[in-house]
Amino acid sequence: MQLWHVASFSARFKKPGDYLNLEMFGWNFFLIKAADGKINGFHNVCRHRGHPVVQKECGTSQFVTCKFHGWTYKPDGSLHKAREYNSLPDFDPKQHSLFKVHTHVTAQGFIFVNFDAREKPTVSFVDQFGDDFDPTPTAATGKVVGDEFALFAKDEYEYDHTWDSAVGGTKYNWKTFVDGFQECYHCLTGHPTTLPKDFCLNDYYLRQGHGASRHFLPPANSSLSEAYITWLWPLGAITFSENLLFIVRFNPSGALQTRYDSETYRRTTTVPKPSEAYEKWMNHEIAYWRLVETEDVELAVDAQRGFFNGTLGKGRIHPTQEHAVRWYQEKVKDILTRHAEMEAKEGKNIDYSIPESQSSYEEDDTLCKMLGPEYEF
Ligand code: FES
Ligand SMILES: [Fe+2]
Repeated sequence: MQLWHVASFSARFKKPGDYLNLEMFGWNFFLIKAADGKINGFHNVCRHRGHPVVQKECGTSQFVTCKFHGWTYKPDGSLHKAREYNSLPDFDPKQHSLFKVHTHVTAQGFIFVNFDAREKPTVSFVDQFGDDFDPTPTAATGKVVGDEFALFAKDEYEYDHTWDSAVGGTKYNWKTFVDGFQECYHCLTGHPTTLPKDFCLNDYYLRQGHGASRHFLPPANSSLSEAYITWLWPLGAITFSENLLFIVRFNPSGALQTRYDSETYRRTTTVPKPSEAYEKWMNHEIAYWRLVETEDVELAVDAQRGFFNGTLGKGRIHPTQEHAVRWYQEKVKDILTRHAEMEAKEGKNIDYSIPESQSSYEEDDTLCKMLGPEYEF
């Protein structure tokens, strides 16, 4: 897993010690703001015997303490105290820092993580996204006036709640969902009561970024504002409009098990809380987008059922309506091909998320494999 994924937004980390306990791709990790203002990420795994060091969903703490035996860590991940161990002559606390999850915060405050266990991620943020998040586009980048992130009012969004996509179903492959997110060809029939009525589907357009598909959906009436929907390669999305921000954080945990969290933020200047505007925002605008999202999840679940038949080898992709589907599928194929070739060359599974210091336990893995698949973890 060498790539960057959106995980949260800076409004959730106001002061040093603010932390957030998250799960993505089956990994439990947490983000925490250090005294120097940096947002750090760590696997939520105690270096002693593996107990999660953070228990609550979020909080504020200058140290995090593992409940099992009381080891304590600083917000920079270093081991602060290990009862009884600190007096052992061969115990080096520096060798027992929490396992790092790389973080990158964009100029807009979007927080990305990367689970590559190497000291420096193999794929840099710029390798993956180019100038997609540059706040000041230049002519050379090919960006045009109307760049949506130039409109983003970073300091005016407050966290409100998180929506769980599982309400629409979970039995689908994450790529099936992403295919649907690369086009609006499905908007007319897949969202019959919402998008065709409230947005100008004829004026919809999609611009390909370096590592992002950027959808622009102009409204047909004044009750909803223009929606800027950015799909992030390979998995994740950022949507914002005048009143809201969604950070879509994915957690696929198997070939046919996918769900995501939609961290939902409101614009404090237009939607104060509590207020009548807030009630309207929740009951009208947010409820509207939840219906659209639930429909998208249901489309993925149903398309997956179609794939189960095994009769459709390859569908016809429309050259203009669905060009980003092809862009996405080719990128997935390319990265998987390169990974498979590398594994074939090295003759073993390659998992970029395992720290080098932990890979010497392969002998134990071999024993478990000899005992049978039920003993593999
Ligand atoms: S497992 Fe955390 S202190 Fe022992
Ligand atoms: Fe959709």
